[in-house]
Amino acid sequence: KVVAVIMVGGPTKGTRFRPLSFNIPEPLFPLAGQPMVQHPISSCKRIPNLAQIYLIGFYEEREFTLYVSSISNELKVPVRYLREDKPHGSAGGLYYFRDLIMEDNPSHIFLLNCDVCCSFPLPDMLGDYLLSLLNMLCSLYFILACTNCNGFISPFPFAEAHRRYGGMGTILVIKVSAESANQFGELVADQITNELLHYTEKPETFVSDRINCGVYIFTPDIFTAIQGVSTQRKDRANLRRVSSFEALQSATKTASTDFVRLDQDILSPLAGKKQLYTYETLDFWEQIKTPGMSLKCSALYLAQFRFTSPHLLASGDGTKSAKIVGDVYVHPSAKVHPTAKIGPNVSISANARIGAGVRLISCIILDDVEIKENAVVIHAIVGWKSSIGKWSRVQASAEPSSASDDAEGDYNAKLGITILGEAVTVEDEVVVINSIVLPNKILNVSVQEEIIL
Ligand code: GDD
Repeated sequence: KVVAVIMVGGPTKGTRFRPLSFNIPEPLFPLAGQPMVQHPISSCKRIPNLAQIYLIGFYEEREFTLYVSSISNELKVPVRYLREDKPHGSAGGLYYFRDLIMEDNPSHIFLLNCDVCCSFPLPDMLGDYLLSLLNMLCSLYFILACTNCNGFISPFPFAEAHRRYGGMGTILVIKVSAESANQFGELVADQITNELLHYTEKPETFVSDRINCGVYIFTPDIFTAIQGVSTQRKDRANLRRVSSFEALQSATKTASTDFVRLDQDILSPLAGKKQLYTYETLDFWEQIKTPGMSLKCSALYLAQFRFTSPHLLASGDGTKSAKIVGDVYVHPSAKVHPTAKIGPNVSISANARIGAGVRLISCIILDDVEIKENAVVIHAIVGWKSSIGKWSRVQASAEPSSASDDAEGDYNAKLGITILGEAVTVEDEVVVINSIVLPNKILNVSVQEEIIL
């Protein structure tokens, strides 16, 4: 059996997602019409012999109760939310629930970060058991029949995955631009064996353009590795306690011995020890830390629907339908006027009302929004219950803003996006460009490059 664990983090991690994280935990924010966490959950469904999916986080239990019960029913796979009493780190959180996770006696545990957007090639990472066996027999034959043993090329490269590597874990890896690599865990792998040789988390100087995608498969030995880190820390803390000067410091350190980060505390020290391997994806991959990135990722998932779930995309067929351009999702309860023109990259959530002559391009329209006649929304996120007046424009500027890049908050402005929080009213004929508007505001004058508090 196999289980999957998705790390959803908690409210303190969601600050960059404001103002959208005010009323919904970031993992439940809709991308392409489905909660962010549903994309990895749906991918887990493709894993053979999947027994359970656990979401581990430190959000309040009630925030996930409804969602996990409805998604369990829909996918016919048990999904459970497990709440940590405090953040234990990306590996500590997994370890905290080890007894529950091991209840099904799984041979493998998939571990997924919630805030990444990709095709989650999970069954490929695990590898096909029979092909692995064939590959092994072929390599054995090659070694016996040939003197140059390094020349073996696998006849079934698809099987070059976790089962064949035989290590404790396999990490999904992607090649990114050298300039962006330092925002992630950079790693070096052996080109022939795929063994992880070196790992540095967000290094200051360039190490490699191959990065950690935050998607892993482990054997249950991962728990022993995490326990090893905690034990080492406790021992060190006990030693320190001997010194009276350090007594106070020691108390603090003991309290945090169960906080273990997967990247720095586990992957880095285990690199080069024949325990960890890599699996490189050539598909799409992005990290979703800001609303701006959620718009980009919504587009990626909509494009993926063309192959995985075409029935979810609006077709624009029929005389009563609006004109649809490119990939668009419209919730069945939303009402879109036939003279509106929608797309590409638009997702419209439940009970939204889109009026006559409205033009929507690259945007996420959340539940209960009303967009009145002839309004235009381009490259924007419109919060729940907001209303946009007739002939108004809510958009990003044509050119990305030149705002300074030192603060995290400027990231959205740099990307060029407008975000309206919950229940914002934009009155008729008002233009809102590259701005972030906090909930419950009424805009009766046009604004540009502003944060309306
Ligand atoms: N349950 C729980 N408890 N989840 C946590 C905790 C915790 O205490 N801390 C972090 N997480 C979750 C986050 O929600 C996220 O899904 C994942 O664990 C990793 O978060 P971080 O530890 O904050 O790392 P990061 O997102 O900055 O970078 C990691 O992911 C990148 C890929 O997106 C690193 O592993 C990078 O190397 C990697 O490139």
